[in-house]
Amino acid sequence: MQGQNDTAIADGSGEGQTAGPATVDPAAPLLVFDSGVGGLSVLDEVRLLLPDAPVIYAADLAGLPYGNKTEAQIAARVSGLLGRMTERFAPRLVCIACNTASTIALASVREVLEVPIVGTVPAIKPAVIRTRSGVIGLLGTEATIRQAYVDRLEAEFAADKVLLRHAAPELVGAAEAKLRGNPVDPAVFVRAAQALRTMPGGEAIDTVVLACTHFPLVAEELAAAFGPGVEFVDGSAGIARRIAYLTAGQPWQRERADRAIFTRGGPEMDALAPALAARGLDQGGVF
Ligand code: DGL
Repeated sequence: MQGQNDTAIADGSGEGQTAGPATVDPAAPLLVFDSGVGGLSVLDEVRLLLPDAPVIYAADLAGLPYGNKTEAQIAARVSGLLGRMTERFAPRLVCIACNTASTIALASVREVLEVPIVGTVPAIKPAVIRTRSGVIGLLGTEATIRQAYVDRLEAEFAADKVLLRHAAPELVGAAEAKLRGNPVDPAVFVRAAQALRTMPGGEAIDTVVLACTHFPLVAEELAAAFGPGVEFVDGSAGIARRIAYLTAGQPWQRERADRAIFTRGGPEMDALAPALAARGLDQGGVF
């Protein structure tokens, strides 16, 4: 799977804003936020570049999935939660590791929070660079694929390409199940691939944008469903580079174990413990 290149950051594939003061508290964490486990695909890339960064991973499992909610619901929920989490945890930077939340609420969250915020938006530009057939597929949530933000990215970077969008909410559930060690029906992946393939021009797709952070977690299953000759592109590596850039020169000191916090508890959350432990995250309880 290919990440985006550096030049894609400034033009919409992994946005950010200026860093805070260099006198940042060395123990101040990065707050990585998603509706569920999807943001772990972003955290994996952040860990590679910033292994010493203290991290709080926050999953709004009480609000999952975001993809079937309205813009107003998502914007209110994300702004409210990030406001309260920022007060509680005093992060040096917030990463909204969710395409749905970012394409809808990034601007409004930036208006209300003082802390630097890096968002996640569909990696259309890197896909345009990679495609040879000129036909690109895009898999996202229902909410993401209808966003004007995505229309703007398409108009700016893919005007001379064909961009075929498909909402694949089933893949969110598949990634959530996989990380809990639950079985996932392979038909879910076949359906997503076929939906794109059977659109007009879809047989020529050679590049697929994974425009939901859950989807890289099931990239192998998707690759099997699409078959050879299709490359997947997502923004996670570029987002990690953006975070590294915005925090360059800052001191890091991990004073306690990194942790994952959820907006809902229960056995379903406990089942995530192995996937979280594999990423150096302790269960941090319910927020
Ligand atoms: N991980 C989220 C994204 O990147 C969406 C999952 C959901 O529907 O909540 O869009």
